[in-house]
Amino acid sequence: MNQILKYSFCLVLLFTFGQLDAQDIKWKIIAPGIWKGSIGKPETYDLLIASGAKPAMDRLKRMNDASFPLVQQNITAKLNDGKTYLRFPLDRKEQIYGFGLNFQTVHQRGKILKLHVDHFGGKDNGRTHAPTPFYVSSNGYGVFINSARYLDVYAGSAVLRDGENVPEAKDRNTDKSWSSRPYSDGVEILVPSEGVEFYVFAGPKPLDAIRRYNLFNGGGVLPPRWGLGFTQRVRTLYTADEVEAEVKAFEDKGFPLDFIGLEPGWQSKAYPCTFEWDKDRFPQPSLFVKTLLDKGVRVNLWTNPYVSPQASIYNKIKPFTADHTVWLGAIPDLTMPQARDVLFSQLKKSQLDIGVSGYKFDEVDGYDHYLWPDVTLFPSGKSAEQMRQTYGLLIQRYSAEMYRERNQRTFGLVRGSNGGASSFPYVIYNDYYNHEDFITALINSGFAGVLWTPEARASKSEEEWLRRMQSVVFSPMAMINAWSSGTKPWSYPNVEKQVKDAALLRMKMMPYWYSEFAKYHFEGTPPFRAMNLEDGYQAEVKAEVKTTNLEENPYIEAVNKEVKDQYMAGEYLLVAPMFAGKKTRTVILPKGKWFDFYTGEFAGDGEVINITPGLDKIPVYVKDGGIIPIGPALLHAPKSIEKIDLEIRYYGNKPGKYMLYDDDGETFNYEKGAYSFREINIVKETNGKLKASISPAQKGKPNTINKVSFKAMTK
Ligand code: GAL
Repeated sequence: MNQILKYSFCLVLLFTFGQLDAQDIKWKIIAPGIWKGSIGKPETYDLLIASGAKPAMDRLKRMNDASFPLVQQNITAKLNDGKTYLRFPLDRKEQIYGFGLNFQTVHQRGKILKLHVDHFGGKDNGRTHAPTPFYVSSNGYGVFINSARYLDVYAGSAVLRDGENVPEAKDRNTDKSWSSRPYSDGVEILVPSEGVEFYVFAGPKPLDAIRRYNLFNGGGVLPPRWGLGFTQRVRTLYTADEVEAEVKAFEDKGFPLDFIGLEPGWQSKAYPCTFEWDKDRFPQPSLFVKTLLDKGVRVNLWTNPYVSPQASIYNKIKPFTADHTVWLGAIPDLTMPQARDVLFSQLKKSQLDIGVSGYKFDEVDGYDHYLWPDVTLFPSGKSAEQMRQTYGLLIQRYSAEMYRERNQRTFGLVRGSNGGASSFPYVIYNDYYNHEDFITALINSGFAGVLWTPEARASKSEEEWLRRMQSVVFSPMAMINAWSSGTKPWSYPNVEKQVKDAALLRMKMMPYWYSEFAKYHFEGTPPFRAMNLEDGYQAEVKAEVKTTNLEENPYIEAVNKEVKDQYMAGEYLLVAPMFAGKKTRTVILPKGKWFDFYTGEFAGDGEVINITPGLDKIPVYVKDGGIIPIGPALLHAPKSIEKIDLEIRYYGNKPGKYMLYDDDGETFNYEKGAYSFREINIVKETNGKLKASISPAQKGKPNTINKVSFKAMTK
């Protein structure tokens, strides 16, 4: 009898496991090349619900349809112990990228991560400002887990007993080829909920999968033009007079400035916050903001969301706050409309109404000692874990809505984010301040649907200052954060001229940056991204790696290594930042000709070059056929009605085409069709010479371009 019982118990177990594998995943097509898989009972609160992201169907439909990029049966899900176990297959030669805003690594295969919103702590272990549960494969697909939980990721590190590609067990005593990390053919993810939804994005190229992911989340943000100008954050206790003097100094010295950031001292109390102006430092906030606006400079305000017991909104918001505090401030439950109403009404009344252009939302990420613990209770019933994973999304979403209601674009900063954030007008920053790792984060931001700024604060030497400033102007937000240092762009006199050149170059390149952000919005292409996403780069890795002796071909060896110090900026530019103390560096130029950005000279083709660039410039290379529209070196972004002259620079010997984007630069009218693309064409004539042209401005559409001239950069 006992035996029979045991036997039937085993059968039941077998049956249960059998039921809970691949065939139980429900698949649904969402858009061309996007599938949703779901297993068990997905939770009612997840990343997409928190972010409110909606697929940009019109733009997704413009992408090619594609077949499912993996063998569907090889994706398995199991429910056990109240959790979901997901497994996705990996090929032998596949590399994977992503899993959030990592700072030190680009290749994620083999890593074990715990995706957890936090301030980056110096190690890529999954705890970061935007631990987006999205990964992209070199084989050309992406996977997104839509869960607002802490997720355990085994990114190709674990081996099944009865798997298909299990390596042979070796004897460590005698076999020198024994490895402590045997080959793994799967990405496994532990989701601590009894069911989850996840998404698979087709390629064919890895960049296509990323584009689908960004468009699925509403498309990338299109900042206002002024958001792409230069920004300075002043010392925390600056008064209105001191800020005005700083703005004047920028003007007098001819340094560009589009928005100025006030740090905690603008508030009457901070940490926790009152969200009210300090009456001594800012006696007339409305006049102050207006005075700066009249000079073409907008105001951005620092805040964290924790409400001081002395804030005028405290009693009103209290019922909608958590049972724990942060720095003794109440934590608004931003999933509750009542909490949002109180907080955002205060911001509107005291700040937006007088012309404040945006915010820097600080400390919505970590550290554990600062933030609410996981035993915190929120009045909506969301768990502390869910709130931790989504607080950055919530504050971005609802603060952006305040501006959208006014048909006004904003562009600001935030320290915590997650999946579903592509369309938010916010750039991530942190306190870690390592130049090299800041560049790696910039590379990884393109895999995570977020933007990142390698902000400059202060430096040990003038060389470091200049190098940081040069990097920052080739990033989504060209910013000095002097909240504690009080630095200005001219603080290191020996490099003042070079810093000014870099800042003005940023302004001149605004037509390019703006068109590239339009590409982020309309096509989902991240403006700043990894070399691994470049065609000429991948083709090489795939075609030659098997047959080439690495010793003899340094280029092949280089592209197979993890590249963490050079990146693509927009369609055509390859940026290779210099770090303090380094006089030379190597640059990997992918297959296809590349030209020096400043001189137009040929630089290389599918090779590793050694350069000694000097202090003045950050090394930048342009793809053959590259077209860079350049505007004047303005001190403020052009206003919506202001027209500028354009110089269209083109590089190399190949014909090319560029879509120059234009709109009013400030409102959301582009969503209703008030925008235009003008086509720039470089064609080869019968005599072999290149000829450049631009299509006329469209009637009835915004046009901010005056005179156009062309410049062939390569002689
Ligand atoms: C930090 C933030 C800094 C600065 C500072 C002001 O948390 O990362 O950029 O704003 O707060 O107290």
